[in-house]
Amino acid sequence: MSSPFEQILDPARRADPYPLFDRLRDTPVARQPDGTYVVSTYREIVSLLHDPRVSSDRRNLGSDAGEAPRDPSFIGLDPPEHDRLRRLAMRHFGPPHAARTVEELRPEMLAIATRLIDGLAGRSRADIVDEVAYPLPVAVICRLLGVPEEDEPRFHAWADQAIETLGPGEQDRAERERARREVLTELENYLAGLAEDRRRAPGTDMLSGFVTYHGPEGGMTHREVVATAVLLLIAGHETTINLIANGLLTFLRHPGLLDRVRAEPGLIVPAVEELLRYEPPVQLISSRIALADIEVGGTTIPAGSPVVLAVAAGSRDPAHTPDPGLFLLDRPRNEHLGFGGGAHYCFGAPLARLETQIVLGELVRRLRAPRLVADPPPYRPSAVLRGPRHLVIDYAGVD
Ligand code: HEM
Repeated sequence: MSSPFEQILDPARRADPYPLFDRLRDTPVARQPDGTYVVSTYREIVSLLHDPRVSSDRRNLGSDAGEAPRDPSFIGLDPPEHDRLRRLAMRHFGPPHAARTVEELRPEMLAIATRLIDGLAGRSRADIVDEVAYPLPVAVICRLLGVPEEDEPRFHAWADQAIETLGPGEQDRAERERARREVLTELENYLAGLAEDRRRAPGTDMLSGFVTYHGPEGGMTHREVVATAVLLLIAGHETTINLIANGLLTFLRHPGLLDRVRAEPGLIVPAVEELLRYEPPVQLISSRIALADIEVGGTTIPAGSPVVLAVAAGSRDPAHTPDPGLFLLDRPRNEHLGFGGGAHYCFGAPLARLETQIVLGELVRRLRAPRLVADPPPYRPSAVLRGPRHLVIDYAGVD
């Protein structure tokens, strides 16, 4: 009988991993046969997210060093390098020019969502993943970075392949690693070319900011620009797509919820927060390494061990959240781990929240009598970034 964690990694269990996450929490810090430690309770995960002895830099995995990425982006670096690059990237995050808040992007995001949902009119069946959840975040992040719209389809394919090859598990590891590197190299070459263009003729986009800015701390090297752009592109949409798809799926499974949000559109804000807890797109943070012996939850994780933080289990920990298996719009306090925590807390959280609120709000408002064609829908294979591959719905029209 395989362990709960091994079963979670099995693609056949993707549709409903939550009973397995519940069992995983019976052993808050569980050593796996390969020496990886899986941590699954809220308190223990939070303490490790904030522990400087837990590294995100894969180069600290001695034996694995040959496989480490060539240009780690800041998600794979520790302070102080992490902090310098994250600060430099943050300066240019958001709409062009000063006084940026993601709120200023609302009209543009609404326009993109409106165009995509208009495209569903005149028929009665659609795949919400391919037609809405996927194109929306791609369009938003491409626009922020300054990727020309006509290149978006190429982009799509690269980011998709990069994600499908990701995640723990021994199956085809070498082949997946090879495919992943090939795709990342193509994406890097493309972005390096675009960065060169912006150096010669800067615009108002983020990439132009990256290549031209030099402050008291200096600027980004060419390699850092490319690594940061690749990170934003991939992190910026492969997660949001799943939140949108998981969101509509959850609404359609709970018709009372759909009616409430339709009647009171402001409820989309707590609904998205609850989704991040209840159906989180990032289920496992799988790239940490213990730099010292660390005692946590009554277990000592030995120095050098890979550590997996099962955030999807932590967000449903009954010791922290009452009735964690229920989707509730009116939780007095919703503390989830959907965006991680500590130094690597999601850089794009405000953007992701707003995109998802807008598009889900519009889907709920405009789709007439939507219903699922298949439940559960087919899932993408990754256990790390979990979400439906397709979400086919029938509906009676579009308002
Ligand atoms: C980091 C989740 C959307 C950019 C993270 C982490 C999580 C997460 C859990 C922590 C990873 C770790 O600790 O290793 C999500 C979810 C999203 C989302 C659930 C959508 C629903 C976005 C968007 C962007 C973005 C839209 C960019 C525009 C990043 C970056 C990091 C990050 C750059 C690394 C931060 C660092 O290392 O300091 N995200 N994310 N994410 N996210 Fe997101």
